[in-house]
Amino acid sequence: MSDQVKTIGVLTSGGDAPGMNAAIRAVVRAGYARGMKVMGIERGYAGLLNEEIREMRPQDVSNIIERGGTILLTARCKEFMEEAGQKKGAEICRKYGIDGIVVIGGDGSYQGAIKLSENGVNTIGIPGTIDLDIACTEYTIGFDTAVNTAMEAIDRLRDTSSSHERCSIVEVMGRHAGHIAIWAGLSTGAEDILMPEDFDGNIDRIVEHVKESRRLKKTHHLIINAEGNKNSQELADRIEAETGISTRATILGHIQRGGSPTCRDRVTATLMGVKAVDLLKEGKTNRAVCMRDGRIIDMDLGEALAMQKSIDPELLNARALLKR
Ligand code: ADP
Ligand code: F6P
Repeated sequence: MSDQVKTIGVLTSGGDAPGMNAAIRAVVRAGYARGMKVMGIERGYAGLLNEEIREMRPQDVSNIIERGGTILLTARCKEFMEEAGQKKGAEICRKYGIDGIVVIGGDGSYQGAIKLSENGVNTIGIPGTIDLDIACTEYTIGFDTAVNTAMEAIDRLRDTSSSHERCSIVEVMGRHAGHIAIWAGLSTGAEDILMPEDFDGNIDRIVEHVKESRRLKKTHHLIINAEGNKNSQELADRIEAETGISTRATILGHIQRGGSPTCRDRVTATLMGVKAVDLLKEGKTNRAVCMRDGRIIDMDLGEALAMQKSIDPELLNARALLKR
């Protein structure tokens, strides 16, 4: 173990995700347990550049493990996309004696973390995003809470949709990826799951499928549409016009990002926070904390970002087999 790293910082960046607070708590408490001082940086890279930095002691992270959102607040920061902003960020770290930073966020935040590392600040990334779209890891903090929230909301929609014998289109988050869509769709028995990864835009086929459901005397037809496909309302209008079946589009939106984190999110965030502190203590930099085969490991941040993620083939297979 290296005694070089005496003070570490922690920030949350990009979209918030349930479980980020559990990760912050783990970084603060594990940091202290390892004899380091921990500084909380508010509002991501924006707060770093504005020097919104305060010491965080173990008692400052009491009663946050169960809370959604991030107590450090989060932001998107254009200035940090530029070289001058990145150099300024590293200078500010040096001014506060911060030798290492834990960045909790998505792949955009990882790009920023690489820049900090290039400018001499030891940097570790923890995957915090509901989208599950970071290729190096099989799990990202917040995904489990988000899909459970989506699943519960869709169950409610199904009740009213069935009572009125309607078709229901539910748009879920995920940015350009369909991970939330396929998990939400499989868990609610959706008739169609449309993901940007493989949706070919063929609406005629969906219209035919809705008609087929009606022929089979189904009281509802549920379509999960990933936000990356857009056009949920247009899809609803077209289905209603071509089938005569009353159709509603519901955009679940930001409720998927809020709420108390599930057990899985809290525990994974805790393990990843501890791992990040251990990596900094060992003098490591430019590393991404990941989950592989259920174990917490680390890899080079640049290599992590170069990886491509696709939808798990077993999930695709289940979607194809269970579609009636
Ligand atoms: P996420 O981390 O959830 O993917 P964003 O893509 O919005 O969210 O990125 C969060 C922040 O990370 C951005 O506002 C910016 O400050 C920083 N960032 C993103 N891309 C880069 C980049 N190429 N270089 C430096 N910083 C970046
Ligand atoms: O990355 C998380 C996420 O919630 C995406 O699923 C979504 O596309 C995006 O952030 C929404 O961002 P904003 O909160 O800026 O509207």
